[in-house]
Amino acid sequence: MTYIVTDNCIKCKYMDCVEVCPVDCFYEGENMLVIHPDECIDCGVCEPECPADAIKPDTEPGLEKWLQVNTEYASKWPNITVKRDAPADAKDFDGKTGKFEAYFSPKPGQGD
Ligand code: SF4
Ligand code: F3S
Repeated sequence: MTYIVTDNCIKCKYMDCVEVCPVDCFYEGENMLVIHPDECIDCGVCEPECPADAIKPDTEPGLEKWLQVNTEYASKWPNITVKRDAPADAKDFDGKTGKFEAYFSPKPGQGD
């Protein structure tokens, strides 16, 4: 198994998660992060750290799409281990549904 980042990270991107990961397996897109499923050691430490509750174990049902998104973009986006400021309007998007369809960006973030 692995943990994965899901829809509510998009445009919230709080980045608290990157500070606690013992194996530095978060990767940064323009408006969300993903976890590299082959690097994650399933420690679960990041899950409660996310203010947007966007990190889930892939054993939860219905997350196949997100496992695919995390796998694909972890190999395309730069590694991130240091938290920066969240987007100024992050709170406006916290809890909105359908963010992948509306806002997902395949562009890489800046990384560390
Ligand atoms: Fe990192 Fe642990 Fe979260 Fe996996 S579960 S991404 S190893 S903090
Ligand atoms: Fe995203 Fe939550 Fe990390 S919003 S950047 S998964 S702390």
